[in-house]
Amino acid sequence: MSLWDGRFAGEPSALMREFGESLSTDLQMWAEDLAGSTAHATMLEAVGLLTAEEGAAIRDGLRAVGADLAAGWQPDISDEDIHMAVERRLHEHIGSAAGKLHTARSRNDQVATDVRLWLRTRLDHLDAAVAALISALVSRAERDGRVLVPGYTHLQRGQPIWLAHQLLAHAWSLARDRERIADARRRVNRSPLGAAAMAGTPHPIDRQHTATLLDFDGVIENAMDAVSARDHVIEAVSVCAICASHLSRLAEELIIGSSREFSRLRLSDDWSTGSSIMPQKRNPDAAELVRGKTGRVTGALVTLLTLVKALPLAYNRDLQEDRPALFDAVSTTLACVRVLTGCVESMTILPGPNLEGDALLATEIADFLATAGVPFRHAHRVSGRLVADCEARGIGLHQLTDAEFAAAHTALTPEVREWLRPESAAERRTSRGGTAWSEVLRQVALLRSDGG
Ligand code: ARG
Repeated sequence: MSLWDGRFAGEPSALMREFGESLSTDLQMWAEDLAGSTAHATMLEAVGLLTAEEGAAIRDGLRAVGADLAAGWQPDISDEDIHMAVERRLHEHIGSAAGKLHTARSRNDQVATDVRLWLRTRLDHLDAAVAALISALVSRAERDGRVLVPGYTHLQRGQPIWLAHQLLAHAWSLARDRERIADARRRVNRSPLGAAAMAGTPHPIDRQHTATLLDFDGVIENAMDAVSARDHVIEAVSVCAICASHLSRLAEELIIGSSREFSRLRLSDDWSTGSSIMPQKRNPDAAELVRGKTGRVTGALVTLLTLVKALPLAYNRDLQEDRPALFDAVSTTLACVRVLTGCVESMTILPGPNLEGDALLATEIADFLATAGVPFRHAHRVSGRLVADCEARGIGLHQLTDAEFAAAHTALTPEVREWLRPESAAERRTSRGGTAWSEVLRQVALLRSDGG
């Protein structure tokens, strides 16, 4: 017997029941469902729609249902969703008083409330996890990041940088993810409860009261909007998708960085796996899975956008499909953040390659000339010719003689040799946000002081 059986002579088919249930997904938010119902009962009592005895019985009963669920009680899928399962169980505990709980509400505002409560907590977890990853990157940058490595553009050697500079670049993108999480949370944290089906209710309810009890920042003003809006879900998942795309870029660099060809780092045993056939292998599976799971999170965003596209107001059962995508996106992103934090904390940073005389110092020659007043475009050409010449002769830039430098341009005095030292090339880049160690330390301080 369903809770809406008055209108019907028969029951839905077994297949319809199986097809339509959301209980298996909703079970993740039973605590939120109980919190919403408890607040609703308290408010109903406060406005006189429940007697004190009824209010107390319902709240005690909801606590008992909570104990059942915490102890592993499994509702039957014939209850369709968590809201009906809780109400039925409440009825089993306290009898007919349970029937008054649904006064002035609908499952439409209930589910909207539950999802917002669930999401609010998870966004807080995600924020804490991203903060931990930022702090791992910042610590590694400060402690072990003074290693000169090539900075790349187009995956071609560009200019020498401190590895810390690159680690902090990742930290900054994650810091912006935290801003996005906070912003999404503000829009999540509004109460739809009391919207009822979509038109409000004739009962003298107090929506602000339930909003306050549930720690919402306020109510959603329009009842129809309250039950049909899912933009906060899309926004949260888009925040996850952006964050996951950042994680996948970091993961990719851990993967290529741990290859023998790059030899930048070694992932710890905790985050590597072996091969069943090739004994020498240390595979970066953790990072590869982060890279791969990013696709799932992006997919969830597309699922949700497609779900609401052209959906008429107000509630439609389609909306039940929001949770598998939402829950998966949020928990996948959270897991990816935690796994990468473990990788970053425990990886070994290897000594940098020998960059002496490397062509990636060509910009130094051009900058040296530009400092002497030569127009940069001309200086660029002079340096380019020297690089081509060295390449043809199979020598490094530092092996050119003073006479060869002077022949290339009269302003190329022997002082250029100091500019060609890889470390001084990095250390000269003291412009704001540059790779110089003083700038690294400035950013470390900023990220620690909640720029991050
Ligand atoms: N199980 C539904 C969902 O998850 C709850 C709301 C059902 N409302 C309705 N009018 N059938 O979205």
